[in-house]
Amino acid sequence: MPEELPAVIADGPLDDTVLEFMAGQVSLVPWDTLDTGLTLQIEGLYTYGHPRVDSALLDRFPKLRIISNYGVGVDHIDLRAAEERGIPVGNTPDILNGATADQAMTLVLATGRRLIEGDGYARSPDFTAYDPGHMLGREIHGATIGIIGLGRIGQEIAKRAHGFGMTILYHNRRPRADAQSLWGAVWRTLPDLLEHADYVVLSCPLTPETHHLIDEKALRLMKPTATLVNVARGGVVDTDALTTALKEGWIQSAGLDVTEPEPLPRNHELLNFKNVVLAPHLGSATVQTRRAMAQLSVSNLLHGLAGQPLIRQVRY
Ligand code: DGY
Repeated sequence: MPEELPAVIADGPLDDTVLEFMAGQVSLVPWDTLDTGLTLQIEGLYTYGHPRVDSALLDRFPKLRIISNYGVGVDHIDLRAAEERGIPVGNTPDILNGATADQAMTLVLATGRRLIEGDGYARSPDFTAYDPGHMLGREIHGATIGIIGLGRIGQEIAKRAHGFGMTILYHNRRPRADAQSLWGAVWRTLPDLLEHADYVVLSCPLTPETHHLIDEKALRLMKPTATLVNVARGGVVDTDALTTALKEGWIQSAGLDVTEPEPLPRNHELLNFKNVVLAPHLGSATVQTRRAMAQLSVSNLLHGLAGQPLIRQVRY
């Protein structure tokens, strides 16, 4: 008799790479099994698209041994509930730092140089002649970037900003001893950073402390010529306050890889603003990085199912 494969529930649909790594290793149980109540045999929980994982959900899985998350951010998982049940949580840090930092710089460049507006204009019948006075942007080189969250991704952003010849400010709970020597990055208090940065880039995790960190008060501190870029989580920014800020000119523009809610309602005002560049949560979305994330998250899953230490385990 073939050995029975461990039952793993996953939200999906999962992409082909994840399925390829899981093939022959687990028996996948579809998410809508939750509606039928047949969850007693489930040993693994694989979170792919940020489903909410709380005590009520975990109580449905008495045999659960591992939660493996496809991605580094685990704000959708109640870590205390997992800890109380002795269930390890795996995630995919580090391998996505470069891709996410690239996306942050993409948004800095696209907002600063009005790339999406320019693309629309270049394709439209309105573009009939080159006009040197038209659609001027703001420089990136020589500008000041303020990175909020100089963690693994934030450091990669600092490295890139240094290459662009930007002045680098950052805000972290604690200053980093090597940030100045590596990238000339200078720690500032949050208000000070907001007042001085031309590009404020968010790369911090979403926690109770960072929820709506960028609210009306914070936005009012920013320069009217400044841009806000968010590659962290939508919840770090108060969307209503940001909408007002962009409408009333407290700041100049925004580049948002993430929003709250996500996606924004299809009739949300922000979707019509020319001074906003939006991406559908593409921070780590490259072929190479997503493959590495699939491999690591499935390895974490298999290690957890086998009762072995995870390759990358979240600290509770
Ligand atoms: C992450 O890694 O947290 C990304 O947002 C994808 O989940």
